[in-house]
Amino acid sequence: MHASDKLPRHVAIIMDGNGRWAARRGLPRLRGHEEGAESVIAALRVCRDRGIRYLTLYAFSAENWRRPRTEIAGLMGLLRRFLHNREAELHRDRVRLRVIGRLADLPADVRRDLRRVIEGTSSYRNYHLILALSYGGRAEIVDAARGLAMAAVEGRLDPARLNERVFRRFLYAPDVPDPDLMIRTSGEIRLSNFLLWQLSYAELYFTPTLWPDFREKEFAEALAEYARRQRRFGALA
Ligand code: IPE
Ligand code: IPE
Ligand code: MG
Repeated sequence: MHASDKLPRHVAIIMDGNGRWAARRGLPRLRGHEEGAESVIAALRVCRDRGIRYLTLYAFSAENWRRPRTEIAGLMGLLRRFLHNREAELHRDRVRLRVIGRLADLPADVRRDLRRVIEGTSSYRNYHLILALSYGGRAEIVDAARGLAMAAVEGRLDPARLNERVFRRFLYAPDVPDPDLMIRTSGEIRLSNFLLWQLSYAELYFTPTLWPDFREKEFAEALAEYARRQRRFGALA
């Protein structure tokens, strides 16, 4: 098999470094987020061209609520603009938009726009764009545990039969396969509470490139590196 044939089915990205990109240019942080939105479009294009069917993007973490209100408002506005400007393309490429996270935390107008696009694209199966919004990995596991405990109390689930497959059913997007490749930009080497359950056997790729500079070429380099990795899952090669 040619190395380039080894493609991840699911790529997850921690899109980090927008603020630093802006600061280096003496620009407001929001300009960095806007430029980062262009990298999102580039990443979507790469996935479409290569046939990578699942792309999960960490767009706003549960911890990001600690940022100044103006930055949060700017990010929410940018998300709404992105949905508005890109909706037609999502339909054209038959991309199903999905969201993971505590959506109830989001402003009502953002929720409304998300709902419209999520429902409008829900029948598509070619590509899945999964946005992590107000997302925390521990919160997801706790939410799953709550759902599970409720099911047990209501007699729908026998605790003795709990296993990893059953637990997974209570996660935010149970049918989505685990990421094969996790990319984090901006030089930070940490998970920042991203997909703690799902990343257990992902290949991890860290690059100093800031997210607004992470375009087709940089994504291609990450995919080339992934193709060189040997995944063993604990077995012998
Ligand atoms: C990532 O860029 C985008 C979000 C977290 C929403 P940052 O805003 O974290 O950029 P830096 O890390 O400050 O450079
Ligand atoms: C992680 O980036 C969250 C997103 C990219 C949405 P942060 O910039 O918020 O993470 P920390 O604070 O460096 O861990
Ligand atoms: Mg950051």
